[in-house]
Amino acid sequence: MRAIVVRKFGATPELIDMPVPEVGPGTVRVQLEAAGVNPFDAKLADGILDGKLPHDFPMILGVDGAGTIASVGPGVNRFAVGDRVVGKFLGSPVGHGSFAEFAVIPENGTLVHIPEGVPTVTAAALPIAGITAQDLVDATGIEPGQTVLIVGATGGVGSFLVQLANIAGAHVIATARGTVADQMTRLGAAETVDYTSGPIREQVAAAHPDGIDVLFDLVSPPEVLAELTGLVRDGGTVYSTILAADEAALQARGLRGGNIESKGGASELARLLDRVAEGDVVVPIDATVPLADGPAVIGAPGARGKTVLAI
Ligand SMILES: NC(=O)c1ccc[n+]([C@@H]2O[C@H](COP(=O)([O-])OP(=O)(O)OC[C@H]3O[C@@H](n4cnc5c(N)ncnc54)[C@H](OP(=O)(O)O)[C@@H]3O)[C@@H](O)[C@H]2O)c1
Repeated sequence: MRAIVVRKFGATPELIDMPVPEVGPGTVRVQLEAAGVNPFDAKLADGILDGKLPHDFPMILGVDGAGTIASVGPGVNRFAVGDRVVGKFLGSPVGHGSFAEFAVIPENGTLVHIPEGVPTVTAAALPIAGITAQDLVDATGIEPGQTVLIVGATGGVGSFLVQLANIAGAHVIATARGTVADQMTRLGAAETVDYTSGPIREQVAAAHPDGIDVLFDLVSPPEVLAELTGLVRDGGTVYSTILAADEAALQARGLRGGNIESKGGASELARLLDRVAEGDVVVPIDATVPLADGPAVIGAPGARGKTVLAI
């Protein structure tokens, strides 16, 4: 089968032929139709889990994937051949991901049925980014009327986070270059801040002199995050998805939150899919590219919503 791999940590991803994986007890083999691309794919290729989990090489990349169950192993009872499914294809050993024609996953992993009416390509864009956004909203417990600033709002996580925070009743301020401000407004942002036209802190402070309640930051390094934290009222919440938060400093200021590591699984994914099926959440897919072009988009900057590989 065709698969996108790296042969060692830090190598350039390439499309090669790999053996079709075999099912074992409690696992299913999915024939993948689409796979969502995330910044995490490039981090995995560079060895972010080196020393934490074993890896197999050539390491097949890709975590988000959707397709059809092609075969089931002994003892599987939640899924049957032909079911349409979406999931997170990251296990131990690492290296058996979704950027391939087939992948094997435990039936009790992050794997759920795709509701009728949700296209497989749409579902493939949800797992990492959607679940992370859901985890952030759940961990914060946003109350209606609260002011929420999302820094890095135009990418994968941000596009879902703007929608989920808006659904929770927040007044959402989204960072966006001028050319994508409209897209953020359509997703539910009440205000946008163009981070290329001046410091975010000054722009938000001018519009909200009494401060904001929640800061979700998906991109800022520690020193920038520390500055932006000055916008948050006492008792508010600050989360970083890139380990940029100084948790002791947040606590000392009486702020909640910290560095989040998304732990959501099948139940969060199923909840999101229901919202997509009902039309409450849209999945903003910026580009769908063939598997063969995957190596060029893995780790590429400038995401607008999600990029999906068509397999
Ligand atoms: N901790 C966890 O469990 C977890 C889970 C998921 C993701 N993450 C991490 O969270 C980060 C975001 O993920 P993602 O999937 O949303 O990434 P993404 O799709 O690449 O989006 C990042 C967005 O941030 C914007 N951006 C870049 N620099 C900015 C700045 N200085 N100010 C404002 N916006 C800026 C980019 O827009 P422009 O092109 O306009 O710059 C892009 O739209 C990644 O580092 C990812 O690995 C962590």
